[in-house]
Amino acid sequence: MKPVNVGIIGFGTVGAGTAEVLLQNREIIRNRVGTDIVIRRIADLDVTSDRGVAIEPSVLTRDAEEVIRDPEIHIVAELMGGTGRARELILAAMERGKHVVTANKALLAEHGKEIYEAAERHGVDLAFEASVGGGIPIIGSLRGGLSANRVTAIMGILNGTSNYILTRMTEKGQPYDQAVQEAIELGYADDPPTLDVDGTDAAHKLAILISISFGAPAALGRIHREGIDRITPEDIRFANEFGRRIKLLAIARHRNGRVEARVHPAMIPTDHILANVNGPYNAIYVEGDFVGPNLYYGLGAGRRPTGSAVASDIIYLAREIRQGMKNFMPPLAHARPLETEVDIQPMDELRCSYYFRFSALDRPGVLSRISGILGEHDISLSSVIQKGRDVNGSVPVVTLTHEALERDVVRALARLEPLDILTHPTMVIRVEGA
Ligand code: HSE
Repeated sequence: MKPVNVGIIGFGTVGAGTAEVLLQNREIIRNRVGTDIVIRRIADLDVTSDRGVAIEPSVLTRDAEEVIRDPEIHIVAELMGGTGRARELILAAMERGKHVVTANKALLAEHGKEIYEAAERHGVDLAFEASVGGGIPIIGSLRGGLSANRVTAIMGILNGTSNYILTRMTEKGQPYDQAVQEAIELGYADDPPTLDVDGTDAAHKLAILISISFGAPAALGRIHREGIDRITPEDIRFANEFGRRIKLLAIARHRNGRVEARVHPAMIPTDHILANVNGPYNAIYVEGDFVGPNLYYGLGAGRRPTGSAVASDIIYLAREIRQGMKNFMPPLAHARPLETEVDIQPMDELRCSYYFRFSALDRPGVLSRISGILGEHDISLSSVIQKGRDVNGSVPVVTLTHEALERDVVRALARLEPLDILTHPTMVIRVEGA
């Protein structure tokens, strides 16, 4: 049996991890696939740095086109990242009849429709296990083991950097900036970690999970997105008093034919299954109508976990090639044409509970004024805490609400914010699993 040849574009952390697992576990993989998987070419602008992987210098090239043009290469793994050149190279590889593996969540979230359609048009396969949750096999589970189910809900901690920062703020009482600095120094965060902390990275991943679960691309711009940079140690302490933790959650729920899709910090009960997913770990909770709840947990980033995910895609495709098959599984694991996007519910129709931290003057009647305006907008309080007095004479008035409509919350806050009883903007955090 002839070997299956792979070309890798991008020899950074993920490329090196992929090469490492393919070489180190070569025999195990050969036994599982029934033939050798050979790394025939690796393209990267840096062909001299030592990546700790025994690759012959002749395999390395600075020219990614060499990978695309090589007629002996069956599978191209795009591991360079970015949404410009990576997109062109993937489309060019597909045009030449090559199967593609990618870890590029930004590219799939922004240009998924074009890439899924190109794969179908050219009769090649596209696999992207590493794009969500690093080493966690969540894409394979949605495409395979859960494929009999209507997915009713997804709730994930999809960004390890934010999760690390929130964990340090919770466990050590660190302020946000200090936790970010520590994450950068330990290599858990880029400097600056913008796309990780502002919710963009998690939104990219949620868009991909929604696309597979609901069978059509999800418009990234319609996924509500908020980051963790406004969370303070004070909010974390109050959350604790309410028996809750703050996590950056990516949530999708099936709602009467539409999908609720949002990424934001959320308070969840301390005994919630996601509340103790800490540090750089990711976890994805999925509910299916028949299977019920499922939980996936593991490292969402890093050379070896992400290399493991990319290699699993290469193995899947190598098995197909060995059997003389292709297109066994369409990119989104749905056979129907991808004509429409998933219908995402407008955010102002969301119903959930809320945490408000008002910074208010410590005067008689202030709490009743606040609760009166909330009441006029159908927002009912379930708990209130008022403690301490700060140096400016204002106090935190902290409330949890019963379920309310997001639109009403926006309107109520627009009425409250200009009042002179409030000294600072109000902190709003949605509450899940109330
Ligand atoms: N930057 C991502 C995270 C890992 O912090 O989870 C790669 O997707």
